[in-house]
Amino acid sequence: MPGVSIKGLNKTFGDVNAVKDVSLEIKDGSLVTLLGPSGCGKTTTLRCVAGLEDPTEGEISIGDDVVYASAAKKNMPPEKRQIGMVFQSYAIWPHMTVFDNIAFPLKIRHATKQAIKDGVNRALTTVRLEGLGSRPATDLSGGQQQRVALARALVHDPRLLLLDEPLSNLDASLREHMRVELKELQKRLKITSIYVTHDQLEAMSISDAVAVLDKGEIVSLGQPRDIYDRPTNKFVASFVGRTNFIESKIVSKGKDNCKLDSKIGLIDSQSKAEGFKQGETVLCAIKPENLHLHTKQPSSKTNVFDATVEYASFLGGYSEVIVSVGSETIRIHGKSEDLNVENGKKVILELPAHQCVVIKKSS
Ligand SMILES: Nc1ncnc2c1ncn2[C@@H]1O[C@H](COP(=O)(O)OP(=O)(O)OP(=O)(O)O)[C@@H](O)[C@H]1O
Ligand SMILES: [Mg+2]
Repeated sequence: MPGVSIKGLNKTFGDVNAVKDVSLEIKDGSLVTLLGPSGCGKTTTLRCVAGLEDPTEGEISIGDDVVYASAAKKNMPPEKRQIGMVFQSYAIWPHMTVFDNIAFPLKIRHATKQAIKDGVNRALTTVRLEGLGSRPATDLSGGQQQRVALARALVHDPRLLLLDEPLSNLDASLREHMRVELKELQKRLKITSIYVTHDQLEAMSISDAVAVLDKGEIVSLGQPRDIYDRPTNKFVASFVGRTNFIESKIVSKGKDNCKLDSKIGLIDSQSKAEGFKQGETVLCAIKPENLHLHTKQPSSKTNVFDATVEYASFLGGYSEVIVSVGSETIRIHGKSEDLNVENGKKVILELPAHQCVVIKKSS
């Protein structure tokens, strides 16, 4: 399967800049997710790739095939782009059978009757709906309807699959199940895919790479783990999981580390603090699950602070503890047996230096 290259993509609607200078390389056979809040331009980007929206500027290629180029005035119509698309709403035709719904892309491409029959049956097997072809499309569960939409997107052997919030209409447990199934299918077919979601958990679990969008711009791009552990700014850090932010000043900078002065005291960070100056006010970002609580003085003397438990609660699989260190409030997540503390208890908070990420104060 070919990869996809998006260069300098812009799309404006009147005075709304829905997509701002988006550039993205998607390796062949990989799944890249566009992650961001409502209105950040995910669907518009996807529709530009599909050819359903005319970009204002930029270039889009699928493999060596340039499907859109503003400079060369090239704009391939959607049906020539060989793309399969799944919409958030499924867009299944209720008056048709499952078979006819899936057959549609082949019919408009004037496939023979036999090719349609073979194609639809193969697609039904791919999404594990064998034998359901003659059912009216509405006599299906939400998860089954989602599979019909997927089968219809795949039936004409597209070279690229676009998925716009395909699971958001399903309930939580089915969503989780379909997420696993979708990833397994994408890997098996080795089909290059662009996936759109506002759900960070979904993005983390399904993607080879994640592009975080904010107001039409890519603000972070990387593998899920990196985006999560090493957020590049406050927006990304807040959007992917909860994060503690401790306002700090950079006291000194080393090659691979820096020392921060904050309201809780001096913090050693193994963050390079690239692009920041000594004396600059920054945020030290640290995830709740990367903090440690001790009831006795730990062996490490670095980044340990006296704290008081303000609130401890059991949240099923894990516990949450909120502590105060001076005037700062800090949230810790962990296994219940490691966080067995009561309100008001004096504890010692440890911030592992390699988990303290330095990011810009304003973003
Ligand atoms: N046809 C249109 N005409 C005018 N404005 C539009 C049009 N389509 C999208 N927009 C605007 O462009 C911006 C991006 O919209 P888009 O649908 O791409 O967001 P999204 O990230 O998919 O959001 P959601 O998560 O809610 O689906 C929004 O401000 C939206 O109002
Ligand atoms: Mg959308």
